[in-house]
Amino acid sequence: MSKEIISINGTISKPGEALISVMDRGFLYGDSVYEVTLTYNKIPFLLDEHLDRLYRSAKSIHMKFSFSREDLVNEIFKIVEKLTGDRLYIRIIVTRGIGEINLDPAASKTNNLVIIGRQLPVYPKSWYTEGVSLIVSDVLRNSKRSIDPNVKSGNYLNNVLAMAEAKEKGAFDAMMLNHKGNITEGTTSNIWIVEGSKFITPPLEAGLLGGITRKSLLILASKNGLEVSEENITPERLKKADECFLTSSTKEIVPIIKVDETLIGTGKPGAKTQNLHQIYKKFVMEYIS
Ligand code: PDD
Repeated sequence: MSKEIISINGTISKPGEALISVMDRGFLYGDSVYEVTLTYNKIPFLLDEHLDRLYRSAKSIHMKFSFSREDLVNEIFKIVEKLTGDRLYIRIIVTRGIGEINLDPAASKTNNLVIIGRQLPVYPKSWYTEGVSLIVSDVLRNSKRSIDPNVKSGNYLNNVLAMAEAKEKGAFDAMMLNHKGNITEGTTSNIWIVEGSKFITPPLEAGLLGGITRKSLLILASKNGLEVSEENITPERLKKADECFLTSSTKEIVPIIKVDETLIGTGKPGAKTQNLHQIYKKFVMEYIS
């Protein structure tokens, strides 16, 4: 049993020993797609949804997989079994593979499938009990007409730059705007605000990754009689919100208490945010039981 293992095309190695060629197009061009799923009690949460998104991302960039979905699922479970701990971070990366230095995708014939499995780091409790801060970044989210942000590809350089800006300014994360000046999402999470009793998140048309947590929450909130809506959010609207939070598979729901220099609501995690987090946790428990 290990704390971290990596599989490359089915061969399992320890982290320092898992090597891939520099001629891989993921390395050369960011020509890859990926997913991150979390396990609870060693059960990969919403794995089908993550794999559907992986296949959808691949289709969008005209990438065909040289392995079957069944093989991929078996490989994920093989890794999960070999790891200790119940909260595991599973990162599935598929590159277009190795080929000559040549932008033509046909230069490579076979994908490389890399799966990184490790224990999820224990996040500081204060993120959830005290909340965290955001900045609105100068870096724009890429347009849907370049790499659609709804494709989870290995091209994260805009997000890396936005995160660097957040860190320079002492913030937890950065919000990226689209070319119209509307908020899209965080660097690895979706954004939500609460206005009165309404939960609002930007629509996919704003140019963002359709998060699986985001989608679950849209459904869960409605089922629990909460008002939800997909609407454009400007930075000004964000700063006037009563509550604000980020969502992702790995972090679940993280309350936001400050954006740039503006406190959100009372400057403390909002009650409606915390209530939605309880609903989400209940959903996770039902899924794994
Ligand atoms: N990130 N937006 C972006 C740009 C993301 O990279 C992610 C996920 C999300 C949230 O999606 P989901 O709810 O499906 O996790 C939104 C993962 C966790 C990552 O890259 O580590």
